[in-house]
Amino acid sequence: MTDTIRERRNGIPILDDHVQHQFIQDDDQTLHANPLRRGLADQRTPQPCIMVIFGVTGDLTARKLMPAIYDIHALQPLPEGFAIIGVSHRDWSDQTLRDEMRKAVEQNARQPVSNEAWEAFAGSLFYVKADFKAQADFVGLRDRMEELDRERRTGGNRLFYLSTPPSYYGPIIANLGAVGAATRQDIYSTDQTGWQRIVVEKPFGRDVQSARALNAEIATVFSERQIYRIDHYLGKETVQNMLAFRFANILFEPVWNRHYVDHVQITVAESLGVEGRGGYYEESGALRDMVQSHILQLVCVCAMEPPAHFDGNSLRDEKVKVLRSVVPPVAVKEIAERTVRGQYTAGYEAGQLVPGYREEKNVNPGSRTETYAALKLEIENWRWAGVPFYLRTGKRMARRVTEIAIEFKRVPYLLFKEHGASDLTPNVLTIRIQPDEGITLRFAAKVPGSANHLRAVRMDFQYGTAFGQAGPDAYERLLFDAMIGDPALFARRDEVEVAWSIVQPMLDAWAYDSSDPAAYDAGTWGPYEAEMLLAKDGRTWRRP
Ligand code: BG6
Repeated sequence: MTDTIRERRNGIPILDDHVQHQFIQDDDQTLHANPLRRGLADQRTPQPCIMVIFGVTGDLTARKLMPAIYDIHALQPLPEGFAIIGVSHRDWSDQTLRDEMRKAVEQNARQPVSNEAWEAFAGSLFYVKADFKAQADFVGLRDRMEELDRERRTGGNRLFYLSTPPSYYGPIIANLGAVGAATRQDIYSTDQTGWQRIVVEKPFGRDVQSARALNAEIATVFSERQIYRIDHYLGKETVQNMLAFRFANILFEPVWNRHYVDHVQITVAESLGVEGRGGYYEESGALRDMVQSHILQLVCVCAMEPPAHFDGNSLRDEKVKVLRSVVPPVAVKEIAERTVRGQYTAGYEAGQLVPGYREEKNVNPGSRTETYAALKLEIENWRWAGVPFYLRTGKRMARRVTEIAIEFKRVPYLLFKEHGASDLTPNVLTIRIQPDEGITLRFAAKVPGSANHLRAVRMDFQYGTAFGQAGPDAYERLLFDAMIGDPALFARRDEVEVAWSIVQPMLDAWAYDSSDPAAYDAGTWGPYEAEMLLAKDGRTWRRP
């Protein structure tokens, strides 16, 4: 073997190409045959632990959590002893949980489910029935965890996951603390009984005040380093790639600023409606549901300065700096001028007639909840002063697409004016987050021929094509990080609170506004008023 080792980098042998290739094929990992994917196995291994999912009978567990854990396990077996305790008030047994989860995994996981693979996984699933508000039930849960610790040598390591309606967060946390199942562990803790972490699902509060109160409540039982506030957009591969794109290439950073960028457009458009979640959505609306969390995270990765290091606190320090520099509209008049709230009416989605929002189940027929929000933000710092960030999100829009588009300024002088190039479109760099993850650069090129005609053309990078494989689901990445204890892709306390403070003036103004949101037909790109928001600045929304 040694004569096939070409060199060593950081002690890792680099093999001759033909040997590498053979290994890849021997492994029957045909997907890994793509040379860009060589040597990419995740070197990190979680410690044995018990993951406790509160709200295990809910939709999120079936659609996202369990399939993600199964996929992690299938690709890179979790440590022996790893166990999951599902908790809910329903009368389920270990076997019911296993049967239900098999259906969920078969439907939603990326990896195939064979009988053998399922048996290997299902033996780690256990169920505990508990009323989240009853302390006595948490004594039973604690005892079950200790029993499993002894049987499976999980060493007291616990990953709690709150996947319940938010009204249960407080009681669950208080009960975990009260029965001694969780204690504050900070860097000085000498506690040898294992680590405890808690993952908190969104929505993290419904305004600044409730987010602060929830932070304070969690902090009575867990220290900040134990808290993992999830925003699944940060787990999306292309969002992370934005950091690589910006900070691992010399080419783009020099023009990534107010001197070259005209404006930024962030679009998170969904073609689906509220999908049976009318009750939740009525209380939430697009601003709370998408802007406060996912879209502001996209603003951060796009606008942040290079962090001092690639670690949790350095990254989050930079994101918080961006959020603190955001100048949201505050006065009622400013809010009216710089924001648009919309609501879909009946229309056609993929050729099918779909109902309007007010006709959806559990929605008030006179509802004023916005299913669409568009806004213009400014970031007042040295890099971005004067560059508007236009953000929009909506349900039932023309198609599902999430992208960040950086539109650059025009060239200072157009040499080709006499050759029909007066309306040449400026350079645009588009980061497509979903679907068709990739990056596109639009630039001007000469049309072949004897005349000097110019046209906009595109340079396209597509993830799927380049790497031959889609990235992991966001939950896979984030759950794995929580098991490992890497908080970089989770939101910090100050980050969530500042994000809420940005949207708060708009939430307040919209709550007091007795007019109806601007209507838009399902299956379109949003209300006319949103077009006007950009038209006032002499710009137009992209049609992705
Ligand atoms: C969730 C919102 O956080 O994100 C949903 O509550 C929304 O309303 C979803 O549909 C969008 O996520 P994705 O990954 O499908 O873009």
